[in-house]
Amino acid sequence: ASPLVIAIDGPAGAGKSTVGRALADRLGLEYLDTGAMYRAMTFAVQQRGVPEGDLADVAAVAPLVDIRIDDSTVTVDGVDATEAIRGRDVTEAVSQVAANPTVREVLVQRQRDWVADRDGGVVEGRDIGSVVFPDAALKLYVTASPRVRAERRVNQVGGDVDEVEASIIKRDRFDSSREHSPLTEATGSKVVDTTGMSIDEVVDHILELLEAAR
Ligand code: C5P
Repeated sequence: ASPLVIAIDGPAGAGKSTVGRALADRLGLEYLDTGAMYRAMTFAVQQRGVPEGDLADVAAVAPLVDIRIDDSTVTVDGVDATEAIRGRDVTEAVSQVAANPTVREVLVQRQRDWVADRDGGVVEGRDIGSVVFPDAALKLYVTASPRVRAERRVNQVGGDVDEVEASIIKRDRFDSSREHSPLTEATGSKVVDTTGMSIDEVVDHILELLEAAR
């Protein structure tokens, strides 16, 4: 049987991770946060003192970076980077590193290998339904208004709502306008606007979409 892949894409802070994990739990599948992989790559680039915008040097480093992601920990070249990859330095640079075509090539291959090793999974990112798994059983584009996304983020990790909203909008703009694999609603994807919905409501709605798609 072909692997069951559920692709979840959408802008920053839309609740993709929370929903993706809950969905994977309900379906007995494993979950892959590809954003954490781009963040880990950014951390590695910074650790090596390579300027994030240096196309050739970042491309040279990308294949060498060892990234391990399990339920609770992200390890980069043997260093625990779980907290650092969520920090401001990485968050502000990640979109630039993610725009590097070699970085994308390396990480997309690792994402496909991950699924092949498992016969499927819930995979979350920006280009999963459009590029990485265009034949996914279900493709979702999970979104919410920028204000709501910023408020949720502040409730989770603190910060100033206006500042967080501005940073989210900036990252979305960069991710949507880059040349390689921009954030977009993949062909055949179902848009799920989570504004005003609880996590359980979103997960139930997605399970109905999956049922209808099978
Ligand atoms: O999902 P998260 O916000 O952690 O992703 C961080 C960044 O990684 C995104 O803003 C985007 O630049 C990049 N990314 C990507 N493609 C993916 C997942 C994330 O370009 N599939």
